[in-house]
Amino acid sequence: MNTAREHWGSRLGFIMAAAGSAVGLGNIWKFPYMTGENGGGAFLVIYLACIVVFGFSLVMAELLIGRAAQRNPVAAFRHVAGRGWPAVGAMGIVTAFIILSFYVVVAGWTIAYMLFTLNGSLANPDAAALGQVFSDLVANAWQPVVYAAIFTVLTALVVIGGVGSGIERASKILMPLLFLILVALVIRAVTLPGAGEGLEFFLIPDFSKVTGATFTAAIGQAFFSLSLGMGAMLTYGSYLPKERNLPADAFAVVVLDTVIAVLAGVMVLPAMFAAGIAPGEGGAGTTFKVLPAVFDAMPGGVIFGFGFFLLLAVAALTSSVSLLETVVCYFVDERAVSRRRATILSATCVFAISIPASLSSGLWSEVTFFGKNFFDLMDFLSSSILLPLGGMLTALCVGWVMGPRAIAALTNDGKLSMPWAGVWLFGLRFVAPLGIGWILLQGLFG
Ligand code: PHE
Repeated sequence: MNTAREHWGSRLGFIMAAAGSAVGLGNIWKFPYMTGENGGGAFLVIYLACIVVFGFSLVMAELLIGRAAQRNPVAAFRHVAGRGWPAVGAMGIVTAFIILSFYVVVAGWTIAYMLFTLNGSLANPDAAALGQVFSDLVANAWQPVVYAAIFTVLTALVVIGGVGSGIERASKILMPLLFLILVALVIRAVTLPGAGEGLEFFLIPDFSKVTGATFTAAIGQAFFSLSLGMGAMLTYGSYLPKERNLPADAFAVVVLDTVIAVLAGVMVLPAMFAAGIAPGEGGAGTTFKVLPAVFDAMPGGVIFGFGFFLLLAVAALTSSVSLLETVVCYFVDERAVSRRRATILSATCVFAISIPASLSSGLWSEVTFFGKNFFDLMDFLSSSILLPLGGMLTALCVGWVMGPRAIAALTNDGKLSMPWAGVWLFGLRFVAPLGIGWILLQGLFG
């Protein structure tokens, strides 16, 4: 089974695919409004601290387990750590379904907005009118469901095609393009009248607003954005040949993801202030509500707008592919199902659970569980609980069960010199479990 495992074609191909998984709606849709809702600059600082203290070492840990085992998450944990640990992999597979349930809905909105830019629905710089376009879309009973279905089918088609071919090639061209468009939009957004205040809100921390909930939101956002804690990085690591310099690759992925999130913040928050929307008020529609006014204020706005939503949809696709791939990889490896069959079955389940997620922004917005609608519940369950929990267990596994074996695997049996590898292991043994554990308790009982 493992002898025939497909591998990434090149170092750049792998980095682009892993960064493709990391960079997605998390950066551009979620990060800006989370920052808005959680106090701006202080959230940014705590978010960056989570990336530095937990994120980087855990991306390495996950890639390492995958590469060492060359297997799907469930089998990989069994391979490196033995009995009991496969449960961590299994939890990741459940988490993938939960995230996909709302991820395809938001990606569907992106497709809808591509059409809206073309048919002129967004050619109105008025904030209230643009807000209405978004509310009308999500309140519609069937439209968002159809867009989510289209996106789910696209994800399934890429996964059926196999990891190497499609994902690698597309990411290498489209990611740099997305970056360029972002830079152009940032420049326009920060020069809008009234934008300065938004920039201040984003960059100047006010720690008086920080509570336990800020930490929960920040760590959840960091894990979500880095695709951490549910086995996606592990799965991509399992397609890595053994001789690669893993920390260097992990570093590149973390930096790319963080730069894009910060750029998205510098784009959306000033645009939000310029549109007169208070930072806590935009909600999950923020990016969609405020950016069209930025396009409108640019020469060639329609092209920028269309290009932006198209590339955002592609960025979302490379992320949703990594989510679905994690599930499919498990069924193919462990249950001897064909790739095609496994993909079709899982995509059908994803579509089924995306329906309540989609309706909860409209028709079913009154249906709540623990005070949250279905969409928010899935988001909270995955980002605030399951991903940090998965990350904490991964840290314990690599830190304590693998221990020195992990250092040997990281340094390719001592061939690479890494004097700081001991610091990394110390972080996984103590800092990550205690730090993440504390934040998790804050989130649940704080
Ligand atoms: N990191 C992706 C994003 O930011 C989402 C994702 C989460 C992908 C978990 C895979 C696993 O959009």
